[in-house]
Amino acid sequence: SKSPRPVVLIAEKLAPSVLDVFGDEVEVRHVDGTDRPALFAALAEADALLVRSATQVDAEALASSTKLKVVARAGVGLDNVDVDAATARGVMVVNAPTSNIVSAAEHAVALLLAVARRIPEADASLKDGKWKRSALGGVELNGKTVGVVGLGKIGQLFASRIAAFGVKLIAYDPYVSPARAGQLGIELVSLETLLAQADAISIHLPKTPETKGLIGADELAKTKKGVLIVNAARGGLIDEDALADAARTGQIGGAGVDVFVTEPTTSSPLFDLPNVVVTPHLGASTAEAQDRAGTDVARSVVLALRGDFVPDA
Ligand code: MLT
Repeated sequence: SKSPRPVVLIAEKLAPSVLDVFGDEVEVRHVDGTDRPALFAALAEADALLVRSATQVDAEALASSTKLKVVARAGVGLDNVDVDAATARGVMVVNAPTSNIVSAAEHAVALLLAVARRIPEADASLKDGKWKRSALGGVELNGKTVGVVGLGKIGQLFASRIAAFGVKLIAYDPYVSPARAGQLGIELVSLETLLAQADAISIHLPKTPETKGLIGADELAKTKKGVLIVNAARGGLIDEDALADAARTGQIGGAGVDVFVTEPTTSSPLFDLPNVVVTPHLGASTAEAQDRAGTDVARSVVLALRGDFVPDA
């Protein structure tokens, strides 16, 4: 008799392309990954679990599984997956490490321009019936110094895009060689120097014990007065309260923030400030990135369930 098809549990909204990859090879089931009892019950029968960032795949969730072989994160960060606990149970963890890097870089550019030209404020006031042309002046990027904190894949994509605005690029990244940065037309500097020289700063780091709180009140005090700051990486890399204070006093000219310490959230000291532009973790939320993330992880899941070698994406 034909053996039953493996059960693939999809716990969050993923691109439809995921289902095209699976075809008839697996049985796809859906659950709301934030509903813990429902998730646990469904996991008991799942061979594979697909998530984005809202489902907590922690040791407790993994313990409710009985035949789980693979957990797939349709995105880059594995912040919500306890990789050690999975490994201890023999569960493979796969992600889509390049799927959304262009989208993330483009979103950081969008936030920087939105802050520099005060677009959300202007949009809101005009739609509110106010023509505030003289009150809403901005700043040019041309001729300014842009500091990139973290020169990995996304930081490099951000740098190459923002370079088109005629800026001088400096970067802080202890893991990148000055020669490599030089090839990209970027001068590597210390964090202190970056803070002191940059007119705009964009941060592109994963959240690790080393990077958490990297930019706090002390660091913000060392920036050029009026600097623009963008965080489309991870909440908490820049201390949220310190950033709000600096935006309130005018030490920073403005900030664009896509990520928060607690997500989802509808309250932050940043939400009350007109010179802070916020978005609800939308960096990867494009049709193209979601399509790629879904397709990439679905392919890896199929290979893992067949017992085939799963290459790094
Ligand atoms: C990621 O880690 O890929 C991003 O934060 C985007 C997402 O949550 O999907």
